[in-house]
Amino acid sequence: MERSSLDEQLHTKVSHDTIDRQHHGAVSIPVYSSSLFAFEDHASFDHAMEDVLAATVYSRGNNPTVQFLERKIAQLEQGEKARCFASGMAAIASTLHALLGTGDHVICVERAYGPTREFLGELATRFGIEVTYVGGSRLSDFEHALKPNTKVIYLESPTSGLFELQDLAGVAKLARQAGVITMIDNSWATPCFQRPLTMGIDLVLHSMTKYFSGHSDCLGGTVVGAAALVDTIERRGYMLLGGIMTAHTASLMIRGLRTLPLRMERHQKNGLAVASYLEQHPLVNRVNHPGLRSHPQHELASRQLDGFSSLFSFESKLPVNAMKRWADALGYFRIGVSWGGYESLVTVGTTPPERNTSGTNPSIIRLYIGLEDPEALIEDMNQAWRLVLSEEGVIEELNPIHPSS
Ligand SMILES: Cc1ncc(COP(=O)(O)O)c(C=O)c1O
Repeated sequence: MERSSLDEQLHTKVSHDTIDRQHHGAVSIPVYSSSLFAFEDHASFDHAMEDVLAATVYSRGNNPTVQFLERKIAQLEQGEKARCFASGMAAIASTLHALLGTGDHVICVERAYGPTREFLGELATRFGIEVTYVGGSRLSDFEHALKPNTKVIYLESPTSGLFELQDLAGVAKLARQAGVITMIDNSWATPCFQRPLTMGIDLVLHSMTKYFSGHSDCLGGTVVGAAALVDTIERRGYMLLGGIMTAHTASLMIRGLRTLPLRMERHQKNGLAVASYLEQHPLVNRVNHPGLRSHPQHELASRQLDGFSSLFSFESKLPVNAMKRWADALGYFRIGVSWGGYESLVTVGTTPPERNTSGTNPSIIRLYIGLEDPEALIEDMNQAWRLVLSEEGVIEELNPIHPSS
C-alpha cells in the first residue's frame, strides 16, 4: 500500500536555504578543501583553541561544507544536532564507543546489520560490555532483557534482511522510564519515511552511503539527536577516532540530499510494484516487505512509517543454486551488496532455519529496487524465471513442492 503522507515541507526543506552572503550568495555551498584554517593573529587562534569543538580550526573537527550538511540533516530528522562520519559504520562504532563503558549492558536487535553486531562483540570480549540480543518484534522482548546496568538499546527498524520492525514509541517509553539511551539505524526508511526522534528515540544513525548519497559513488554516516548527547559523542571520539566525513564527500551528500524525497517517492512506488508482482508469483513463498498487507507487522509499519523504501526480500520455492542462476539471468539487476543508488541489485542466500516453514530448501533473495521502470524490472524477472524453469532438472527439483506439475 503506497503512502503519500510525506512531511509536507520535506521537498522545500531539502531545496531551500537562506541566501549565504558569506559565500557571495552561492546556491551550492563551496567545497572547503582545506585541512586547516589559519588565523589573523595569535589572540584569535588562542580564543578558538579554548573551544576547539565549536571553532573552525582543523577539518578533523569542523569543516564548513560538512557543517552545512549536518545542519540540513538535523532539520530533516527534527533533531538539534548532527555529526557526519566517513561511513555508516564509523558513525555507529564512534557512537557506541562514546556511550558505553566497562560493566555496561546493551540490548540489541538480533538481526541488526552484521558489522554492528561484530563491533558489539568486540566491545564485549575486549572491554567487558554485556550484550543481549532480542528478536525485537514484541515490546516484552526489551522489557525482559532490561537490567540495572542497561545503558543502551540499539534498534534497526526494519531490519535489512527479513524486514522485521520494532515498536519505536513503545521502546522509547520503556527506555525513558528505565533511564536507558535508545538509538536506531534509520538507513532503510530515511527521514522521509521515519523520524524516530519525534517518537522519543534519543539518537538516529544512518549509513548515508545508501539513500542519502543516492548515486553509489561515496560512503558516509551520521548521528543525530539532542545537542547534549551528540556533544558527548563529539567530545569522546569524533576528533579522537577520526572517522570524519571529508568536504568533498559532504558536497556529494548535499547533492544527493536535494533530491532525496523525490527519489524516495519513486523508490516506494517501484518497490511496491515489484513486491506485489512477486507476492502473486507461484514460485514465491512469501515477500518480506512492510508495505504489503501480508507483512505480519503491517499495522505497526503503517503507524510509524510515512512510507516504504525499496529494499526487501522474498523467499523462493526454488533452491539456492537455481535462484543464483535466476540472478545471473537478470539483465537490469546487478549482483552486489549495499543499496540506495539508482541501480537495482540482487543477492541470493539461504533462508534462516527458524524462518523456514516450507520443509524444503528455499532460498531468500534480497532485492533493492532502483529508479528504473518497474515494468522493465518485472519483465526482466519473468524472462529469468522462464530461463531457469527451462533448464534441465529444475522441474524435478520443484516436484516435491508441486507433485502435480
Ligand atoms: C542497515 C545498515 N546499516 C549500516 C551500514 C553500514 O554503513 P556503511 O557501509 O556506510 O559503513 C549498512 C551497510 O551496508 C547497512 O546496510
